[in-house]
Amino acid sequence: MTVLKNDRFLRALLKQPVDVTPVWMMRQAGRYLPEYRATRAKAGDFMSLCMNPALACEVTLQPLDRYPQLDAAILFSDILTIPDAMGQGLYFESGEGPRFRKVVSSLADIEALPVPDPEQDLGYVMEAVRTIRRELNGRVPLIGFSGSPWTLATYMVEGGSSKDFRKSKAMLYDNPQAMHLLLDKLARAVTSYLNGQILAGAQAVQIFDSWGGSLSSAAYQEFSLAYMKRIIDGLLREHEGRRVPVILFTKGGGLWLEAMAESGAEALGLDWTCDIGSARARVGDRVALQGNMDPSVLYANPAAIRAEVARILASYGEGTGHVFNLGHGITPEVDPAHAGAFFEAVHELSAQYHR
Ligand code: CP3
Repeated sequence: MTVLKNDRFLRALLKQPVDVTPVWMMRQAGRYLPEYRATRAKAGDFMSLCMNPALACEVTLQPLDRYPQLDAAILFSDILTIPDAMGQGLYFESGEGPRFRKVVSSLADIEALPVPDPEQDLGYVMEAVRTIRRELNGRVPLIGFSGSPWTLATYMVEGGSSKDFRKSKAMLYDNPQAMHLLLDKLARAVTSYLNGQILAGAQAVQIFDSWGGSLSSAAYQEFSLAYMKRIIDGLLREHEGRRVPVILFTKGGGLWLEAMAESGAEALGLDWTCDIGSARARVGDRVALQGNMDPSVLYANPAAIRAEVARILASYGEGTGHVFNLGHGITPEVDPAHAGAFFEAVHELSAQYHR
C-alpha cells in the first residue's frame, strides 16, 4: 500500500486540521483542456474513452500534471454507466448530450431491469480505478462517484437529458410504486457500484444528485434523499485502514441542508446559490462542506476570480471542514489559465484561515 503524500482533501472532509484549504474541480478532466480533446480524439468518442482504462487514466491525470495545486483526482467516467449496464444502450449524439436506445416507461420495463454486478458488468470502470490508483502512486487521493438514483432515473425515463422532467415526474405522481421500484433497483446498483470502486481503490466517493433540486421538498425527501441515505448505509466506510468519506451533492438542494446533514455523509456539496457561511451555521459540525464558486466566475479575469475566492473563504471563515470547489462542473469554454488562477488563489489566500 503506497503512502498518501497529500491527504489534505481527506483530512478536510473529516474535519481534521489542514495547512491550506484543499481544492479540486468538478469536470476537471474535460473539454476546456486541449490535452483532453486530443486524448478523446485518439479514443474516437467519449464512451470509448470511458471504456478504455489506460486512456481514462491518462485524462484523469492531465489536470494534475497541469495544475500542481490540485488536492484530489476524480475517476474519469460518467454517471450513466449504470443505466448502460442495465441494458439501456447509452450513446452520445455530438452536441446533444446523452441518449438511450431503450426508454423505461412502465412497471414491466422496470421489473425486467437487472441490477448490474460491478466487476462483471462494469469491469472497465473498476479497472480504470485500479489503473489510476497505481499511476497516482500516492500523489493525491482518488474520488470515485455515482449518480443518485433519482438523477439516474430521470435519464432512464426521459431517454436522455430533459429541461422539465415531464415523463419522470409524471411517473412519480401517476405511479409512485413503479418509481419506487426503479429507485430501489438503482439504489442497490449504486451501492454495489460504489463499493466496487472503493474495493478497487477509490478513497472517497461523491454522489451526484444533479436533478434532486428539481423536486418539491416532500418529493425530494421521499424520492431522492431516502434512497441516498440507503446507499450511504450500505457503503464500506473504511478501506486500507482509512475512513472513506462520502460527499452528497444535490444541485439546488440548499433548502434541505439540515436533512442532508443527517444522511450519514461526511460532507455536503453546495452549488453557488448558497452562502457557504450561512450553510456552515446551519449544519454545524455535523458535516464538512464542499464548494461553491459559480463556474461562470471562471469566464472573468484572474483578479476577479481571486476576489471571488477570497469572498468565499472569508464567508466560510476559520478552521477546517471546507473543500473548495465550483458549485457545478467547469464549462468547455473556460480558458485553462483561469482554472490555474483559481487553484492558486485558493491555496494562497486560505493559509490565514488555518493558523
Ligand atoms: O468531474 C470529472 O472530471 C469526472 C468525470 C465526470 C464526467 N461526467 C465526464 C463527462 C463526471 C463526474 C460526470 C458526471 C455526470 N455525467 C453528471 C453529474 C454531474 C453534473 O454535471 O451534474 C451528469 C448529469 C452526467 C451526464 C452527462 N454526461 C451529460 C449530461 C453529458 C453531456 C454534457 C455536455 O456538456 O455535453 C455527459 C458527457 C460528459 N461526461 C463529458 C465529460 C467530460 C463531455 C463529453 C465529451 O467529452 O464530449
